[in-house]
Amino acid sequence: MRGAIFYQSKYGSTKQYARWIAEATGLPMFNVKDRNYDPDLYDYFIIGSPILYFKLSIRKWIKKYLPQINTKPVIFFSVSGAPAGEKLNEWIANSLPESFISKMHHVALKGRQIRSKLSWFDRMMLFIGSKFNKDPEASKEELEGFDYMDKKSINPILELVEQFKAA
Ligand SMILES: Cc1cc2nc3c(=O)[nH]c(=O)nc-3n(C[C@H](O)[C@H](O)[C@H](O)COP(=O)(O)O)c2cc1C
Repeated sequence: MRGAIFYQSKYGSTKQYARWIAEATGLPMFNVKDRNYDPDLYDYFIIGSPILYFKLSIRKWIKKYLPQINTKPVIFFSVSGAPAGEKLNEWIANSLPESFISKMHHVALKGRQIRSKLSWFDRMMLFIGSKFNKDPEASKEELEGFDYMDKKSINPILELVEQFKAA
């Protein structure tokens, strides 16, 4: 079984996770924006995307390639500030087709948000968001940023890859 990693990343944390997965598995990795790939060449996919403004930034790419990827096994990793749970599931449900969600293996990873690296627009939007966020912890993170990057958190993905290889 040949697999590949496809990812989108605005500030680099999803790319960092993709790179750790590529190093651990030896699989090729592609930034979906580069268009230097042919999904038909692969038997399974690892797809990663951040949540930005309550949506998965890779959602349009997945819809575009749905016919190719929905017939094959998919590990999907989301990268967000929010932990795994109801809120995250709702954002994913609003971003992706039900046919994709029902078959993917989802692994929720926590990312990084460094205030000084954000664009002016994103910093302003997150500042406004923090004023309206009723969850005090999430509001603080929107305002001050966070860094939850953790290499070990890719382990469930590596275990799934081993299962795919053995199949
Ligand atoms: C503009 C912006 C909007 C974000 N919106 C959300 C959000 O709605 N929910 C959430 O859990 N995290 C949100 N985050 C946190 C990102 O998911 C997190 O920083 C992630 O690691 C970014 O991935 P990237 O570095 O690959 O772009 C947001 C971050 C930014 C910069």
